[in-house]
Amino acid sequence: MKRAKVTVVGGGFVGSTAAHWIASKELADVCLIDLNGEMAQGKALDLAQSGPVEGFDAQLTGGSNYEASAGSDVVIITAGLPRKPGMSRDDLLITNSKIVRECASNVAKHSPNAVLIIVSNPLDAMCHVALEASGFPKNRVIGMAGVLDGARFRTFIAEALQVSVEDVQAFVFGGHGDTMVPMPRYVTVGGVPLPQLLPKEKIDALVKRTASGGAEIVGLLKTGSAYYAPSASAVQMAEAIIKDKKRVLPCACFLDGEFGVKGLFVGVLAKLGSKGIEQIMPLELNADEQAAFKKSASAVQELVDVLNKNK
Ligand code: 2OP
Repeated sequence: MKRAKVTVVGGGFVGSTAAHWIASKELADVCLIDLNGEMAQGKALDLAQSGPVEGFDAQLTGGSNYEASAGSDVVIITAGLPRKPGMSRDDLLITNSKIVRECASNVAKHSPNAVLIIVSNPLDAMCHVALEASGFPKNRVIGMAGVLDGARFRTFIAEALQVSVEDVQAFVFGGHGDTMVPMPRYVTVGGVPLPQLLPKEKIDALVKRTASGGAEIVGLLKTGSAYYAPSASAVQMAEAIIKDKKRVLPCACFLDGEFGVKGLFVGVLAKLGSKGIEQIMPLELNADEQAAFKKSASAVQELVDVLNKNK
């Protein structure tokens, strides 16, 4: 069987850790692209040399020339500045939009059939930039955020209940920002709804910690933002696409009227398979959830409006 090919754009912590997960899981050959081509080449070579020790086969290449990325099945775009303590993801808007625009248009030239997974921040707005710059259909541009935010929520719930993280199912709706909408009503632990297991005040505290989960790590690292969980989350999405698994994962999707939102990327539950987003999953929202989702979508719209004014 021919191995899949994944290009990771951006050889920083998120990008190189994504390459690491992909290779070690033998999901695909990996091409790591960075403006600093020698650094990307060096990381790819170093990772390739861990193959004999760890026991994986994957071709790893790196450089600055997008020609090497040609024919990729999936492209993960991580390029852009990370935030520093005190910054919100939105502070990166203009700088990262220029970077993501350039990356997405180069990717589209060489891999016209790829599915794009966007990781750069502010996430939902960068999905708009990538959709426009690539000219790809909306099902082939997907934002990575819900898997990460959901994973943070799952980690905190598992810790609070002293259960395995594997038995906690949870997802987060809305934009990947301060207004994100963790959905405790839909959390289950081994199939048991969370509200039966924890009091409301405790759940509220976990929701709050989830929404500021990225900032918590930025505050600790000081020099940049999280990378293990973001890269693992992007790779889980890539795996669903490469293996056509039809996984149901929370992702930033371009909505066309679903949940009352039109023409905007916002996080919802989607079915991911070889075509990218194969279905936006329906879900009943109560009045509070709908209001929080609307507020979060408005925050994304504000950023998209700023981008449109700065074109
Ligand atoms: C985070 O939430 C980097 O946005 C990413 O950590």
